[in-house]
Amino acid sequence: MEVVICTSAEEIGRHVADVYEEALRRPDPVIGLATGSSPLLAYQELIRRHREEGLSFAGATAFLLDEYVGLPAAHPESYAAVIRRELVDHVDLAPARVHSPDGTATDLPAECARYEALIARAGGIDVQLLGIGTDGHVGFNEPMSSLSSRTRPKTLTEQTRQDNARFFGSVDDVPRHVLTQGLGTIGEARHLVLVATGEGKAEAVAAAVEGPLSARCPASVLQWHPHATVFVDEAAASHLDFADYYRHALAHKPKWQGF
Ligand code: GLP
Repeated sequence: MEVVICTSAEEIGRHVADVYEEALRRPDPVIGLATGSSPLLAYQELIRRHREEGLSFAGATAFLLDEYVGLPAAHPESYAAVIRRELVDHVDLAPARVHSPDGTATDLPAECARYEALIARAGGIDVQLLGIGTDGHVGFNEPMSSLSSRTRPKTLTEQTRQDNARFFGSVDDVPRHVLTQGLGTIGEARHLVLVATGEGKAEAVAAAVEGPLSARCPASVLQWHPHATVFVDEAAASHLDFADYYRHALAHKPKWQGF
């Protein structure tokens, strides 16, 4: 795992955009998208590069991590709508090639199996963007999710519902259930890119990066991955014991080595 401590959220956005740009320049790219506020600056930078530098998403296929159960794609806070609003509407990514689990399906386990098969048929995900919840969740894999779990329905913790209430009128409007790629599904993406900013994420980041590999902190599954990059700002890095080493490694990063 490579931990990159950045001076600003904008710098994180540029690094993530670099990783995605590299993936998008390869043939038939399959990109994994995340919602929440953490990825927004990266999306804004990708949109800027599309408009000003001709970066194209035309051949790409995209998969979302998760979706709320019971919210139709037309609901403004469904993750399908959020990703349309924040990214897809502003670039040349074909909406028909942007996939998310359908939280309104009548048979939710069957919908999850369909989603897994769709990812497999696309040849797997080249690069998957991840935020992190204050309880260490990635996607909507709450603590004690199986480290080898697949896409499935989950029940949100009350903490996560509180954290996400800011996007809804009130916490009562935040759905209790979700569909999420599992930790095993996420772990099959060829490159995992986790982004976190702010003091509120510091504890979760420290548990994920330097704590034990444990279902108690679902994001710790990144420790098992052969190619995981964690971009954090100083505040989110503030509980890391090995921060000096990460800075040292970055300062001496060989020119030929990308992220
Ligand atoms: C939600 C999403 C996660 C995201 C998390 C953190 O729970 N399902 O994918 O990582 O929120 O969100 P934020 O980046 O807004 O802090």
